[in-house]
Amino acid sequence: MLPEQHDILFSFLAIAFAIFGIFVFSNVIRECREREGINAKLWGAVFGAFAIVCFLMTVHMFGLVQADQLAFFFSIYLWVVLLLLFIWGVFYKSNKIESQSPPIIRGFFFWTTVSILLAGYTNWLPQQRSDPPPKEAAVIGDVTMEEFAEMGRVIIFGAKQVAGQKSIGKGQCPLCHTFDPGDHMGRCPNLFGVEERSHGRVKEDRYTNLPVKIGETEPASGIVKGKHDEMPEEYRRQHGPEEFIGEDYIRESLMCPTCYVVEGFGQDGDTRSPMPVIVKPPISLSRVEVNAIIAYLQSKDTPGEFSSVTVPLPQDDPGHTGGAVAEEPAADEDRPVFVTGNEDIQTMINTLGCPLCHTIPGIDGAVGELGPKLHEKINAPQRIKDPNYKGKATNTKEYVQESILSPGAYVVFDEVAGEPFPDGLMPTTFSQMLSVQALDKLVNFISQTEPPAGG
Ligand code: HEC
Ligand code: HEC
Repeated sequence: MLPEQHDILFSFLAIAFAIFGIFVFSNVIRECREREGINAKLWGAVFGAFAIVCFLMTVHMFGLVQADQLAFFFSIYLWVVLLLLFIWGVFYKSNKIESQSPPIIRGFFFWTTVSILLAGYTNWLPQQRSDPPPKEAAVIGDVTMEEFAEMGRVIIFGAKQVAGQKSIGKGQCPLCHTFDPGDHMGRCPNLFGVEERSHGRVKEDRYTNLPVKIGETEPASGIVKGKHDEMPEEYRRQHGPEEFIGEDYIRESLMCPTCYVVEGFGQDGDTRSPMPVIVKPPISLSRVEVNAIIAYLQSKDTPGEFSSVTVPLPQDDPGHTGGAVAEEPAADEDRPVFVTGNEDIQTMINTLGCPLCHTIPGIDGAVGELGPKLHEKINAPQRIKDPNYKGKATNTKEYVQESILSPGAYVVFDEVAGEPFPDGLMPTTFSQMLSVQALDKLVNFISQTEPPAGG
């Protein structure tokens, strides 16, 4: 279990309780030694048992994920400790020990402290994490090509890259793609060298005819293949040579993924791309953002060298309508994606990016195909029964929660492709993006999903 899936405060409280259990035990033993006529064996056994139970419950807490930790803490641990306090009081009372402040007073102080901590924590939590990200600022002033390509990088990876973690910006590309030579995640092309191959791709015979012919409209994106002047105007290349250039290929890959499907990476014999149209929900990038991404893709393999970039800078771009690139990407993208559970379910799921990979009944536009169709009302019970299932879930909700928090616990077999779905494709970082309430809401919703009637 990863440490970030724990709730730090509750792990801490569990440790504090274990120590408290031992403290009470030693206190009782001391009292027994100092006095005559106390049944030391009995009381020692009772409080020794409490200390051991507290210790075991703390160990158990460490095996749980955040939501389960909270549930366990409030439904069991808290009551055991209350009972311990009560019996401690009985011990003092029945043995007429009055030399110190009675345990009930100390217990009271103890509980006040805990309550204040809890109250402070729950108030702090949503405020810390749920501020909506600031609306994007328009580009103000001129930017250099280096800055523009950097904006593209931030849209792809986010402003803060944490060592050893996959960082993902609003473009969501690293969910599927790798960018460095030799890196492969299985289902999507490595984007290293895409600038170089963009020039060759448009000359391939395959490009001209498959899966859509040049000049035909691709239904999912509504874009006419190979005609840059038939792109929606706000995304179109404004200047440049009449013929098709590498930039057009890259732009088309983003706006009409099915216009050309990289061999071996498509669905239904490479006739459909599983890549989302990035100018449509849930990603919905603006023209300037698309250009920034292209500038990044065209220059990333030649650090410090921007001569292969053909997109215009925002200030030189007659089609630029003034919107939507963060002036200071660092401030905008600083905040990690986080949902509180106050959003409606559609917004929540879009924000988390599930539709990019999953088809989810009841969620508009969730037609992703890189992962299994989410029909969990039916799937989950089958997965749990599978002899290969090694996870801990015993019912649908637990299975769904486990799939979201630790996708690697069970890797689903893809009946259509005849091989398992790629392990490691589904991000393992959702525990950091969800409040307890949001996780609950998501798990409840996903647990109810089933194939649409008649289909
Ligand atoms: C849900 C997974 C997914 C996401 C998210 C995604 N892609 Fe893709 N992408 C694919 C797949 C699969 C292909 C290969 C099929 C095809 O050609 O469309 C592809 C192809 C491409 C290609 C063509 C590659 C080549 O070698 O010709 C480019 C360029 C590209 N993606 C860029 C991006 C960028 C930039 C983003 C983020 C804004 C992005 N993709 C987001 C899955 C994804
Ligand atoms: C980058 C692609 C990707 C994203 C984004 C993604 N998943 Fe997955 N998901 C997969 C793949 C691939 C599998 C199958 C492999 C496995 O079981 O780990 C899977 C498996 C699952 C399963 C198990 C399905 C079953 O029938 O047993 C559930 C449930 C699930 N995902 C829910 C979600 C939810 C909810 C989100 C959003 C919070 C999400 N996924 C985001 C790729 C993704």
